[in-house]
Amino acid sequence: MTSSPELTRRQMILSSGILLAGVSQTNGLQAQAPEKDLIFRTTDPRNAEPALNKLITSWITPTKHFYVRSHAPNPKIDPKTFRLSVEGMVDKPLSLSLADIQSHQEYTLTATLTCAGNRRAEFNKEGKVGGVQWDAGAIGNATWTGVALSEILRKAGVQASAKHVWFKGLDEITKGDGIIPFGASIPLEKALGAGDDVGALLCYGMNGETLTADHGYPLRTLVPGYIGARSVKWLGKIVVSDVTSPNHYLANAYKLVKKTESIDWSESGPIYRYLVNAAVGSHEKGAELEAGKADLAGYVLPSGILGGRVKHVQVSVNNGKSWKKAELTGEDSDFCWQLWKASVQVTEETKEIVVRAEDSSGGFMPYRVPWNAKGYLQNSWYRLPVTVKAT
Ligand code: MTE
Repeated sequence: MTSSPELTRRQMILSSGILLAGVSQTNGLQAQAPEKDLIFRTTDPRNAEPALNKLITSWITPTKHFYVRSHAPNPKIDPKTFRLSVEGMVDKPLSLSLADIQSHQEYTLTATLTCAGNRRAEFNKEGKVGGVQWDAGAIGNATWTGVALSEILRKAGVQASAKHVWFKGLDEITKGDGIIPFGASIPLEKALGAGDDVGALLCYGMNGETLTADHGYPLRTLVPGYIGARSVKWLGKIVVSDVTSPNHYLANAYKLVKKTESIDWSESGPIYRYLVNAAVGSHEKGAELEAGKADLAGYVLPSGILGGRVKHVQVSVNNGKSWKKAELTGEDSDFCWQLWKASVQVTEETKEIVVRAEDSSGGFMPYRVPWNAKGYLQNSWYRLPVTVKAT
């Protein structure tokens, strides 16, 4: 993660009553990714991922090719009346306008966001999993502009016994007979960061522009290293607490469970960090290749640990009997993916291109990931079925 507060701090611009610092203004209320740039898995709510060949064309993912994961329609939020409340175990509860938030030190950092359900559809080979049927495109690397959550928390005065920071969105999700917001919590240490690590951000900018409605306009959290579900969009409330959030999406979802009975949820803890993962983007599943040299490319993400780096990406054309090391491209930065490329020799016997990766914190992509009912954290060897024809 590269954060550069001084370089990115720009003059505040007063426009349409919205203070925007360091990001050029687009109309976040209207802006939605045009459907042609993404493959929509569901349209209401909007859940979409890019084609993998588009995804791997640049280290920074353009917003139009950035996956969208929403549990309800985008809420309409008036930036003029918007307030973020900060309450719970704080000495001084706050109610902040966008201008109040943007009067703090601004940071721009690059970080990868990925959904815990990325590659979920692969679990169906072993048993049907519900939820959005993601291929490997529920991931993207963007620059995020905002203020440090730690600074807002310090302003509110976090009490000594506090341990977790809850986030509540302003969306309205129909769940059973009721309507609930999306929510999450993260440990206080993660919220505060340390040393060079700014911790979590309260973001209003993405890739140099105002957040779009799909990505949480006007304000979202960005928690580098954690599954996307902890980066709450359309943020309306922060609660500081000594316990984790009771919100459904922290307490009863985004957990690894074999079944979905009450005991399974109770016994399993929330997922926070994402795992090392990689995929091929240069070719589609079922691609027809000619025997001989094949040029492959894809992405690789190290586990979401501060300082973690990709150790290597390896490609096999014979189901793991032998491996070829891929070349890494793109920047090598905290909480960021890299891109990779490799040239391999394929023959008529090659039925699959197989990819695996390891990272510097000991994380590796295993041969197989045990099936789980919600289809989370699929990071087994990535397998691309191909047909190879003699030349
Ligand atoms: N925040 C709110 N308020 N509502 C949501 O449905 N989805 C979460 C997270 N934050 C969600 C949310 C999930 S599961 C993911 S993976 C990320 O947002 C996706 O962020 P993106 O749509 O900007 O890619």
